[in-house]
Amino acid sequence: MAFDIRIAGTDVHFACAPDQNVLDAALQAGIEMPYSCRKGVCGNCAGAVAAGSVNSPPAEARPAGQHLFCQCTPQSDLEIVPEAWHRIDPAARKTFTAKVYRNTLAAPDVSILQLRLPAGQRARFKAGQYLQVLLPDGSRRSYSMANPPHESDAVQLHVRHVPGGRFTALAPGLESGDMLQIELPYGSFELREDAAGPMLCVVGGTGFAPVKSLLDDMVKKGIRRPVTLVWGGRDRASLYLPAAVARWQKLLPGFTFIPALEDANDAAALEGFTGRVDDAVRAKFTDLTGHEVYCCGSPPMVAAVRQVCVDERGLAPHDFFSDAFVPGPAVA
Ligand code: FES
Repeated sequence: MAFDIRIAGTDVHFACAPDQNVLDAALQAGIEMPYSCRKGVCGNCAGAVAAGSVNSPPAEARPAGQHLFCQCTPQSDLEIVPEAWHRIDPAARKTFTAKVYRNTLAAPDVSILQLRLPAGQRARFKAGQYLQVLLPDGSRRSYSMANPPHESDAVQLHVRHVPGGRFTALAPGLESGDMLQIELPYGSFELREDAAGPMLCVVGGTGFAPVKSLLDDMVKKGIRRPVTLVWGGRDRASLYLPAAVARWQKLLPGFTFIPALEDANDAAALEGFTGRVDDAVRAKFTDLTGHEVYCCGSPPMVAAVRQVCVDERGLAPHDFFSDAFVPGPAVA
């Protein structure tokens, strides 16, 4: 028998089976709440349970009453308080057969894949969201759109080559004219357009892609806020799209770029920081009160940056937005 889950203070409710997690049940019912990894690592889906009880794995450093909705299952009817929620337009998510029109090796381990949608069709998404590539074996892989939403007849994906990865085996060999099935949009990582405070974007590797979409969108919409981008990698080749950075330096007043590289010589050559992105944030910022932080990368990197920003530099927890890239099969 399914339990009834109600969003506190509203008449919005949905059914959730005893063995189903609350986030999946909400998404299935067309209600989107913040999430990224769906595996209990990013913390984006945390919220309170105001009434009822849940089965929830112990989570370190989570305030009392807070649960990860991607990890907890109901033991009774519930009243929940998610950080945010909205109804998903069921017509908004679409599957397209897209055609490869360019595939560039941007770094030794990164391909930039440009796909064009069928003539006359447009993708509707918000900057920062992602799509799923439907592979011939039925599995799916998630990639953020790196292009801004107004370029809606195409999508640009930044594909990191992961040893043993199923799409990695395919991506570098894709040629102009090859076809791919994609489904979009997914995800709740997006720019808060009603905010005006300074933005700090912290990305590792191809975590650059969703932030590129955000910043290109800001250029297009004329949104002017101070922005600092910290982009981390091994060496200067890891920062695989310097032309995009140069464009923001020209078009976004108040834009600052901090490369954070493990290679000390390359870091010095770029007048950047030697070391990890979380240490770069620690070194460059003494107080993040009033900022918004947009962070994309591996779960450990996102966790380390969150700790610096929220625990050490005064950032309000609800002003930390993240997209944690978890390798492996995407959850459909
Ligand atoms: S921890 Fe639940 S979505 Fe990442």
